[in-house]
Amino acid sequence: MYRTDRCGDLRAGDEGRVVTLCGWVQRIRELGGMVFIDLRDRYGITQLVFSRDIDNELCDRAVELGREFVISVSGRVTLRSNRNSQMPTGDVEIVVSDLEILNRSETPPFTVEDDTDGGDDLRMRYRYLDLRRPSVMQKIMLRHKMAREVRNYMDSNDFIEVETPVLYKSTPEGARDYVVPSRIHKGEFYALPQSPQTLKQLLMVAGFDRYYQIVRCFRDEDLRADRQPEFTQIDCELSFVTRDEIFTVFEGLARHLFTTILGREIERPFRRMPYSEAVSRYGTDKPDLRFGMPITEITDLVKGIGFQVFDNAGYTGAIVAPLCGNYSRKQIDELTGWVRRPQIGASGLIYIKSGSDGSVKSPVGKYFNDESLLHIAAEAGATGDDLTLIVSGDRDSALRALGELRLEMGRRLGLRDSDSFAPLWVVDFPLLEWDGDDGRYYAMHHPFTTPLEEDRHLLSDNPGKVRANAYDLVINGVEIGGGSLRIYDQDLQRELFSALGYSREQAEREFGFLMNAFRYGAPPHGGIAFGFDRWTALMGGGESIRDFIAFPKNNSARDVMIDSPSPLSDDQLAELSLRLRD
Ligand code: AMO
Repeated sequence: MYRTDRCGDLRAGDEGRVVTLCGWVQRIRELGGMVFIDLRDRYGITQLVFSRDIDNELCDRAVELGREFVISVSGRVTLRSNRNSQMPTGDVEIVVSDLEILNRSETPPFTVEDDTDGGDDLRMRYRYLDLRRPSVMQKIMLRHKMAREVRNYMDSNDFIEVETPVLYKSTPEGARDYVVPSRIHKGEFYALPQSPQTLKQLLMVAGFDRYYQIVRCFRDEDLRADRQPEFTQIDCELSFVTRDEIFTVFEGLARHLFTTILGREIERPFRRMPYSEAVSRYGTDKPDLRFGMPITEITDLVKGIGFQVFDNAGYTGAIVAPLCGNYSRKQIDELTGWVRRPQIGASGLIYIKSGSDGSVKSPVGKYFNDESLLHIAAEAGATGDDLTLIVSGDRDSALRALGELRLEMGRRLGLRDSDSFAPLWVVDFPLLEWDGDDGRYYAMHHPFTTPLEEDRHLLSDNPGKVRANAYDLVINGVEIGGGSLRIYDQDLQRELFSALGYSREQAEREFGFLMNAFRYGAPPHGGIAFGFDRWTALMGGGESIRDFIAFPKNNSARDVMIDSPSPLSDDQLAELSLRLRD
């Protein structure tokens, strides 16, 4: 037997026992006639003591150990004189009587402790060492618990987990595909699924009624902190359901996860907000509702006074930063610089400071008298000591900039507490999105999404106005999931393909298999997919989903540890009938 106990197990009650532990040497300290070693495994850290008074030769061997050596030690559990209340095992130490080196380690390239000196790149290159750090390993364990609880909940709600192929065909999620050349079928390619969308719909045609899968998806798109080229979805589909039933089932899943993982109750039902309101009040389709500070449109209020910026703008809007009326010139200048950054894209920022004594201050005081300024600020929601921040421009970009500014002010004012959760269903997304470059509409969700019944008549004449039975689950400003009620009626599907500019042949080529299946009795169905990495990161209080994936890619979609992607040999290329262009 390698060990009697694990490094996180021993407590004061174990005093006097003779135990054997195995693990990695995290730290070695020599103090007087004693050597102290922190021994680490997945379960925790235990302090080992070697005493020169007891065994001088053993102490010499202990000092010779290096960081990350794998050792086995036996000894007696004793109570520590200086107890460490920060560590679960902090009451005890092992007075070692036997030491065996199970394996040596080269000096690790960075300190394998929570507080590490390793930079991002280095830690990614040695991800297996990074994963040894307790705080990193905890995140992967959290992911495991999430998966387990998702399965528990889904299983107890009659969902069946069905696996679907990875070597597949282009799926309609709108990103670029990762493709795999076929050796047997020269010149032909599989595409890795961006999601199992079409397959889960086929499972509904097959009568599975309730399907789910914790499934890997692949999308070749620009990466951000919350995007990976391969990521995991909790993918779900249900038959004979209304949107409200879907919401109830998945609010139940959220409740289950929050209680089992975090021991937290969340209020249900979740708030719902139409897409149009999300955009006009929060400048985004994923509002962070942990705090207020909504956007107020003031276009008409400020137009026609002779101030060019307002007069020429298609849109002017404002947010109110509470109790920031005392912002200094320097702070405002800095904020103005912030909104002008290309990622935010505002051309400038105008402010109104409201004093608690009813005074008012603004750089546009030349054009507006105090009364008008107070009126504008009040319309935006300001009272004494508040700061009204105003952005003008075309509607979309001004709203986007105000939305970003709102988030930034929320962050600066400490209103985005990572310990509070504000779930929200964003509903009634537009069905179609106009792409000016391609001169055509694209499905905002995917082409199997139903229009709202009351908007269907607009499909042929005013397709841009049609709202969809599509919804996103947003928590704290993160899009955690998205789904829709699907089209199962062939006439409607044809109508939609035509609004999307698909010819009959094209629709047949791309989605013929699904449309064929729909000829054999497709039930009404709908579903949703949650970003599993994102949801886990949210529960773990992390900013980047990368930390919650055991072997993630870096920001340029590269795995620097195994050096992938990498070139193929000439033989492999030849076998696949591929030739590389210069
Ligand atoms: P959608 O494209 O909205 O919907 O994806 C569902 C959820 O997956 C997560 N997600 C990602 N997470 C990490 N990295 C990425 N690159 C990434 N892309 C998406 C998000 C998102 O909300 N088939 C539909 C679902 C349906 O209609 O049922 C779909 O895939 O959290």
